[in-house]
Amino acid sequence: MKKSLFITFEGIEGSGKSTQIALLAEYIKARGYEVTVTCEPGGTTVGEAIRRILLNPEFAEMDYHTEVLLYAADRAQHVAELIMPALNKGNIVISDRYIDSSIAYQHFGRGMPLDLIMDVNDRATQGLKPNITFLLVVPTELGLSRATQVKADRIEQESIEFHTRVEAGFQELAAKEPGRWLVVDGTRSVDEIHQVVVEALEPFL
Ligand SMILES: Nc1ncnc2c1ncn2[C@@H]1O[C@H](COP(=O)(O)OP(=O)(O)OP(=O)(O)O)[C@@H](O)[C@H]1O
Ligand SMILES: [Mg+2]
Repeated sequence: MKKSLFITFEGIEGSGKSTQIALLAEYIKARGYEVTVTCEPGGTTVGEAIRRILLNPEFAEMDYHTEVLLYAADRAQHVAELIMPALNKGNIVISDRYIDSSIAYQHFGRGMPLDLIMDVNDRATQGLKPNITFLLVVPTELGLSRATQVKADRIEQESIEFHTRVEAGFQELAAKEPGRWLVVDGTRSVDEIHQVVVEALEPFL
């Protein structure tokens, strides 16, 4: 079946995004829809190259403007090469992070101006907005302790305070646009969260 629907998952590191996306993709497939799963930064060959620059812990000197623009550059490629074509084919697209992550990390986390982030991202994405966004909420310490990577990347190396600002930023964004966001308690079990996600999505299918 065809269904052009753009779903995003947001939340700090270790909040359970990848876990829930894998389960949701299986659910959507079982319901008879084509699903495209992707993630940011990355998702395309160009994006993977940008990701390696963005997350390289050796680039501690990276200016915050550079960071904002690299995320937007990655997103431009992601939308043009992968997301738009998949939606145009009638696929359901699930993206692990999207513009809201740039607002949460670069604005609420770094203090970069919101209008700058909105402007470059609006242009980079040709105005494409998600239909529904799931926010997985976990306490910062829990999320970071769940993070599986042995060596923290450039963003994961940031302080607890930084990640706590990011988390609060996500919740502020969700509160401002309740029609798009579904806020889920990420401390519940994997299956319980999946049920909440599926129930919220059903009306869109
Ligand atoms: N609801 C849950 N309860 C307990 N553990 C969970 C839950 N969801 C995920 N986990 C575990 O926590 C770890 C991080 O989960 P996951 O990789 O899905 O998070 P993520 O949000 O994708 O993180 P990242 O931003 O680092 O990619 C994994 O080991 C996963 O198995
Ligand atoms: Mg993940």
